[in-house]
Amino acid sequence: MPDLADVSAGTANATMQMTESGRWPTEASAALYERARRSITDGTSRDTLLRKGGHPIYVDHGEGAWVTDVDGNRYLDCNNNFASIIIGHADPTIAAAVQARMARGTAFSFPNDAEVDLAELLCGRVESFELIRFCNSGTEAVMAALKAARAYTGRPKVIKVKGAYHGTYDHAEASQSPNPTNWGDATAPSTVRYAAGTPASVEDEVGIISFNDAEGARAAIRRSGDQLAAVLLDVMPNRVGMPVIEPEFISAIRETTREVGALVVLDEVISFRLGYSGAQTLLGIDPDITTVAKIIGGGFPVGGVAGREGPMSTFARSGGSRAKVPSGGTFTANPVTMAAGLATMNQLDHAAFVRLDDMGEAVRSGLRSAISRAGVDWQVTGRGSLFKVHPHSRHIRNYRDAHLSSDEAAEIERFEHDIQAGGVYLSGGGFGCLSLAMTDDDIAHLLRAADAAWSS
Ligand SMILES: Cc1ncc(COP(=O)(O)O)c(C=O)c1O
Repeated sequence: MPDLADVSAGTANATMQMTESGRWPTEASAALYERARRSITDGTSRDTLLRKGGHPIYVDHGEGAWVTDVDGNRYLDCNNNFASIIIGHADPTIAAAVQARMARGTAFSFPNDAEVDLAELLCGRVESFELIRFCNSGTEAVMAALKAARAYTGRPKVIKVKGAYHGTYDHAEASQSPNPTNWGDATAPSTVRYAAGTPASVEDEVGIISFNDAEGARAAIRRSGDQLAAVLLDVMPNRVGMPVIEPEFISAIRETTREVGALVVLDEVISFRLGYSGAQTLLGIDPDITTVAKIIGGGFPVGGVAGREGPMSTFARSGGSRAKVPSGGTFTANPVTMAAGLATMNQLDHAAFVRLDDMGEAVRSGLRSAISRAGVDWQVTGRGSLFKVHPHSRHIRNYRDAHLSSDEAAEIERFEHDIQAGGVYLSGGGFGCLSLAMTDDDIAHLLRAADAAWSS
């Protein structure tokens, strides 16, 4: 099988031939894209899979840390379906659990025992998870959490961080990618509606703060006062550059929300992969509600809202009347997703997180060495199994610092293209994510490909 790893390691692979243009073959992906565009807008149902100036790469299969595309090219997968795969592709333990469950049927209008098992596991791991409720995606989890916060407090407003991505719910996506022409004042950022057609009321209902601006957060929370339902926070937002969150920022949000009677909704859709009990335990945060998704579904569509009994009670029927926030969906907590989630989470013991942290450190420090060898003005941020490369050396505390000029955006695209040609698949924007299937050799492969990309 063609193996770009061998090529970048310097051992020429006889079965793999570059095309005359000096690129790896992509004809099969190109043909699928042509077909896809006739029936799917843009040729794919996911915006994030499109890359500038080319067609997406269509996958054939994945195994462990590697994916093979429909042209037979192999890549070390440092995207891992946007941080949702943590054990590796086609893990035999997860596959066995899923197959066993599928043999008993996949979707029912009855609750199932696997949902109870996964709920117990998650609530047993995180102190603030007194109750949990599942759904099918992180987007849905964030939407449900904000609805619960509004229902519990009886207030309409939320505050979120400029540049932070929380899925595609109207309020959550406000100001997720503003630019210098519309992001407003550094200390009082504007609310920018995201999708065309979003009701103008979102501008009144969503306040924006800058990441790590403790004073700005206190002022915004106090300004919203008794209208504020919640602050929505991700502790290491990718599009904000994955900066280190400052303790004063966390305490400003926690203290001032308590002062005005609002909640903290912690979005751990990605950051839950940072530790056995999530990022909140590592950072000493006490959220009222947490959203989870991605890894807890073991590669299947999933989301979850967990938290303190008070706000979680908004999802409960009381005395036969309907819940304040009715929730549920046709495939919610289906037994296959729940079984996959359990088979994943059961493998994520303390030792697994130590291994992920060690691999992440090796990657980040290896990339920093490659940057100094290449003499380029780049930097690396991240924590645990997550990393992000930036084509500049500005100190990153917030979205403004991380925001790329058009030249820098072109630089990162070139880097991603070059590292992909070296057999490593990253997410857009220089974001990378590791899985437990990766070996030390795989990490060496990643670092060689980065070296080559920076020196090309
Ligand atoms: C922090 C965060 N919140 C929410 C979401 C939305 O999750 P999903 O894609 O499962 O809807 C994402 C997705 O990447 C995310 O990164």
